[in-house]
Amino acid sequence: MSKVKITIDEQTVEVEENSTLLEAAKKIGIDIPTLCYHPDLSLHGACRVCVVEDEKSGSLLASCATPVNEGMQINTRSMKARKARRRNVELLLANHPNDCLGCDRNGYCELQDLTYELGIQSKDVERIAGEQSEYELDTTGPALKRDPNKCILCGRCVRICEEVQGVSALQFTQRGFDSIVTTAFDLPQAEINCVNCGQCATVCPVGAITELSEIEKVWAALEDDSKHVLVQTAPSIQAT
Ligand code: FES
Repeated sequence: MSKVKITIDEQTVEVEENSTLLEAAKKIGIDIPTLCYHPDLSLHGACRVCVVEDEKSGSLLASCATPVNEGMQINTRSMKARKARRRNVELLLANHPNDCLGCDRNGYCELQDLTYELGIQSKDVERIAGEQSEYELDTTGPALKRDPNKCILCGRCVRICEEVQGVSALQFTQRGFDSIVTTAFDLPQAEINCVNCGQCATVCPVGAITELSEIEKVWAALEDDSKHVLVQTAPSIQAT
């Protein structure tokens, strides 16, 4: 396969012609943040967190999905690229619950990491705050729970379920603000062809799909009557 020479942040790198900008940058130790990208999955190019600037045209390119071209001059740290990257993360946060402390993924969430890395503060997100999606939590499955309110539409779960597991239990549906990843016919987790392999939870960068804790599994298995009794008696237990 023939080679292509490009410049990234003033460093020259030679890579195979079918490489992406992200791969070329990685080869010379330049780290570009990503969210929807996953090395084991097909390219999605949705989050635009990996944007870099083409110095010749001034255009912004999603580095994970843009193939290299001979003579390209790429800047991963230009003001334009950094601003765009930051704005894209702020927009994700604007429609994301602000409850990191109570989230199962607190401390190992890729969105949280990026927020810190880019120095984004609450006031930056409040400035662009708008309508927030509201979906029900699905804890009906035997092993996994889905919280679509935390979904950032990176599509990693959809791709791993289809491309690696061959199950296709999850899909994108709706458009624009209403876009969401859900099950076929929006059925509860317990009623779909999910094999509960947990791969979707493994690749989810946020807390949209997580494993049920042992206590959550016990709770989910209880009959509604038993749940009612427990809820009714809980305050009196605490009071004694
Ligand atoms: Fe490149 Fe999402 S990581 S567009």
